Amino acid sequence: MALWSGRFEKDMDELVKKFNASIPFDQRLYNEDIDGSIAHVTMLANQGIVTEDERDEIIKGLEEIREEIRESIYEASDGAMISPLFSYEDEDIHMAIESRLIGRIGETGKKLHTARSRNDQVQLDCRLYLQKKIGMIAAALIKFENIILDKARDYVDVLMPGFTHIQHAQPITVGFYFMAYFQMFKRDLERLKDCYSRMDYSPLGSCALAGTTFPIDRHETAAMLGFSGPAENAMDSVSDRDYMIEFLNAAAISMMHISRWAEEFTWWNASEFSFIDIDDSFCTGSSIMPQKKNPDMAELLRGKCGRVYGDLMALLTVMKGTPLAFNKDFQEDKERIFDAADTWVTSIEILAKMIEHSHFRQDVLEAQLVHGFLNATDVAEHLAQEGIPFREAHELVGRMVRLCEEKTLENKEIVSEGDAGSGEGKPAGYVYGLEDLSDEDLAQIDERLSKKLLGDISIRACVDARKSFGGTAPSEVMRQIEVGRSWLAEFTENEE
Ligand code: ARG
Repeated sequence: MALWSGRFEKDMDELVKKFNASIPFDQRLYNEDIDGSIAHVTMLANQGIVTEDERDEIIKGLEEIREEIRESIYEASDGAMISPLFSYEDEDIHMAIESRLIGRIGETGKKLHTARSRNDQVQLDCRLYLQKKIGMIAAALIKFENIILDKARDYVDVLMPGFTHIQHAQPITVGFYFMAYFQMFKRDLERLKDCYSRMDYSPLGSCALAGTTFPIDRHETAAMLGFSGPAENAMDSVSDRDYMIEFLNAAAISMMHISRWAEEFTWWNASEFSFIDIDDSFCTGSSIMPQKKNPDMAELLRGKCGRVYGDLMALLTVMKGTPLAFNKDFQEDKERIFDAADTWVTSIEILAKMIEHSHFRQDVLEAQLVHGFLNATDVAEHLAQEGIPFREAHELVGRMVRLCEEKTLENKEIVSEGDAGSGEGKPAGYVYGLEDLSDEDLAQIDERLSKKLLGDISIRACVDARKSFGGTAPSEVMRQIEVGRSWLAEFTENEE
């Protein structure tokens, strides 16, 4: 019979027992549950609610139970850490530990649950657990950010096409691209820290929903457990799950960042792009096609994002329409936060390693720079600086682009007739860029135009000139890297 069975005549239906039990998944809270009980009974003794001997007996029993559980844990085939000590007869981790304590030390064990309810207990355990997980996730993100900074520096001078609408847009550096992701994961870290601080209030002693008649000291237990203080309102603190939803939201946003990067790497690894080489150790083969090297880790990361979105939507939906205070629906919260936390931390670790061991192919990137008139905006900006209003400059460059496209096409036609090129000394299949237009070509578009007026419009010169704050010029990216490094050092120091 359960610890609460006093008013019942019948035992629970077997199917109900299984359906009701959270022990299969909440057993991972055993450490937090025991920490909470120790703080609670210490406070009860300080307040004269239990004796010092009773306190010592209870703490000794709890520590023995902790050890017993720790030793029994093994890793199941799905990676879950489980203990064969528990069965659904235990209902949940709170009852499992309390009934073991009573079994072990007898009558004194029955005093532990004074001025406490499972409603505040479960909230305490989940907050402590999430805070621990947040520490682990933050550590993984910090490590990843360091890798990104190193990569950004390695590739600070390497040019590549930047895209909008999956079309060549403007030239950038690979280092600049890396620093874009640095910023996203920086915000993810800040979101984590932010949600940590909001959940940093102890629910312990809120009891079922309305506090207690015992002279407890909630400030003391909050301090013992490392919280900023006790949660202000008992009813809120047993009902609220928004700290979990904030965590899931932070997880979902970060997984979206991970998924976007994974998406790019999946494409860039394809032969049509070949921008990057993903290390063999992050790819898998095909059971039928011997030549295949598939970017499965990148694809899986993209897939895991859907799973974490699901966790967020599930809990939002569970909470919607639940009246105050506790409802059993809330039991559905734990698997969602566990799943999201596990998925998030592993995804960061995998992506970080994959990025660390991937290489950008400079030769391929360079060959791509001739396509798509990457310097068109730069030429228009330059003409505007020379006094031609930007809108007009935009129009002129548009016409220059059109002329280049005609020349490229003509070149192709002549080649198909067996000629060696357009007669301008260009090799067969040559793709014309703005820098190939002669003074005559330019004058034909507008008499004000000349090669001299355009100046150096090589891709390298264009990138070097994009020095505006936040721009792609290597000098500016170096500044971003330095600022990023000192932000990360400071953040890391504050975390420790
Ligand atoms: N197993 C429950 C949960 O996971 C613990 C709280 C139960 N409280 C209650 N009044 N039934 O949320």
